[in-house]
Amino acid sequence: EITTSPSTYQRATETASHIRSALPDVLQNPKVAIVCGSGLGGLAQTIDPTPKVELAYENIPNFPKSTVQGHEGKFVFGRLGPHQTPVALLVGRAHFYEGHTMDMVTFATRVCKLMGVEVIIVTNAAGGLNQNYAVGDIVCLNDHLNMAGLVGIHPLRGPNLDDFGVRFPPLSDAYDLDLRVRVHRAWKTLGLDKQKRRLHEGIYAFVAGPTYETRAECRMLRGFGADVVGMSTVPEIVVARHSGIRVLALSLVTNSAVLEAGPLGSDEALQSMTKAELDAHLGRGKANHEEVLEAGREAAKDMQALVKLIVSDLHEL
Ligand code: HPA
Repeated sequence: EITTSPSTYQRATETASHIRSALPDVLQNPKVAIVCGSGLGGLAQTIDPTPKVELAYENIPNFPKSTVQGHEGKFVFGRLGPHQTPVALLVGRAHFYEGHTMDMVTFATRVCKLMGVEVIIVTNAAGGLNQNYAVGDIVCLNDHLNMAGLVGIHPLRGPNLDDFGVRFPPLSDAYDLDLRVRVHRAWKTLGLDKQKRRLHEGIYAFVAGPTYETRAECRMLRGFGADVVGMSTVPEIVVARHSGIRVLALSLVTNSAVLEAGPLGSDEALQSMTKAELDAHLGRGKANHEEVLEAGREAAKDMQALVKLIVSDLHEL
């Protein structure tokens, strides 16, 4: 299980050159890659269509196939914003809970590196653990808890891929300060600070999924300092940092992961509740996939405008 043949580097090189051969000259060197999380793929429609190339993951050699409902799978290349910044958009991603190996979950990130990407903007839908967060709020990540990674489910486990980076990469600087500042500025420029939706900075806990967290797990993660919880993003960020790509990560709070729940017997109010009241009480905070997609649809426009402005301002890269 130690070596993969051909190596990840060889496969990523093959995939990068396959993609390049499908791109016109002006799109050959995307400096920015954007990973669009659940319901956030609408950015693909705002890309300048002259020219724009879409490649379905299923037609890209060595790429993992997305299996989740509501997640498309395609790579979109085009130019974004007034400065025509060439970008690579990943609409849909491979998740660990789908059964992909960590190597496959992070494969697209490595392909981006080989195509010359210097900045990656990773978006996701996440559950809010911080009680000050409301559904629809946006969180600029400034740190993470790699819950799966800490117990050995880690994308850099195995012989180090020296072609990408060093054996023991630091992650203390993973969330690029300059890019985070740009998020706050863009938020103001767009006038989003005058709206109901709020922007936070917070810590993302990565869990393997696919179950949503129990209440006890939510309390544990909150106790550890996490503000949001989700099933993606951190593997990509780890691999991006390994190879020196600068990282910006944005979470859309699509549900609030509920923390409270006492033993039923000790709760006086529960004794006199009707069945319907009891169901409503126990159902509170129960995460479901439909709710996640719905909140995504509503907030997606603001998130897209935010990402678009940040990318436009990165034209000097
Ligand atoms: N937990 C984990 N992943 C998620 C959640 C959640 O509550 N919401 C969206 N993705």
